[in-house]
Amino acid sequence: MANRVLITGGTGTVGRVVVDRLTAAGAGVRVLSRGRRPHQRADVEHVVGDVGSGAGLDAALDGVETIVHCVYPTEHLVAAAKRAGSPHLVYVSIVGIDRIPFALYRTMLANERAIAESGLPWTVLRATQFHDLIAFLLRMLAKPPIMALPAGLRFQPVDVRDVGGRLAQLALGEPVGRAPDFGGPQARPLDDLARSYQAVAGKRRPIVPIRLPGKVFGGIRAGGLLAPGHAAGTITFEQYLREQLGAGRLPYRDAIRAYLPRRPGRGS
Ligand SMILES: NC(=O)c1ccc[n+]([C@@H]2O[C@H](COP(=O)([O-])OP(=O)(O)OC[C@H]3O[C@@H](n4cnc5c(N)ncnc54)[C@H](OP(=O)(O)O)[C@@H]3O)[C@@H](O)[C@H]2O)c1
Repeated sequence: MANRVLITGGTGTVGRVVVDRLTAAGAGVRVLSRGRRPHQRADVEHVVGDVGSGAGLDAALDGVETIVHCVYPTEHLVAAAKRAGSPHLVYVSIVGIDRIPFALYRTMLANERAIAESGLPWTVLRATQFHDLIAFLLRMLAKPPIMALPAGLRFQPVDVRDVGGRLAQLALGEPVGRAPDFGGPQARPLDDLARSYQAVAGKRRPIVPIRLPGKVFGGIRAGGLLAPGHAAGTITFEQYLREQLGAGRLPYRDAIRAYLPRRPGRGS
């Protein structure tokens, strides 16, 4: 079997797409996750491990030529990859992490630097916010009778099928270092996205803009999360909403379930 690829976070929102695309391309695929979310495919090897603690990484990397890293902690993975003979490390990061002073983004920027300086062959793809994340945010904000929205924010949401396809393509190619950013097809104000969400979800909530202070919100208002000139995604937010909500699927349902306490006797 050609090209053995490890997908960390391969049961997650974008990781699942990468697994599907690489399997379809004939690559040998192995998934690593902590086992909290449902594993979708019986035909793909699944290793339980934790990139945060390093548990299980040496076994997961055995015989691997390429890693697609779809979780954000990176330190232990880089060390284990070096021990495993330096496979190509493909990392999915976020557009604007160098512009918005958000704590998670600072960590992700440090992760990018650590990968670039690791001596491993590497590729980093920065993507804008996934449709799922924006839809999840809007679903939460649309629960009260009035939809209070941080004013002036702009996003360029992208579909994980577009991003996952690009990650799979990068995993099958030579390392490129920092790849061109990957943005969604349209950059739009949050209130515009909220109106689309309400229309598809059948909600009628008055939208009330709230001006939030601080550098994080100021940076997002200034367009810090956008990828001008990189509208690479093809699937619009409305297309995503119609498909997902129409099929009764709720964004990030699995991710939230994974953190709820398990009821005795109910399994996962
Ligand atoms: N969400 C966005 O809008 C966005 C945009 C651009 C880039 N990204 C980046 O894309 C990556 C994936 O995002 P996503 O939204 O697909 O995430 P997600 O749906 O929350 O999935 C995360 C995946 O990682 C696994 N995981 C979490 N912690 C782990 C750990 N310590 N060790 C091993 N596996 C672990 C989860 O399974 P278990 O819980 O079972 O371990 C799951 O398979 C993230 O690094 C994120 O920064 C996200």
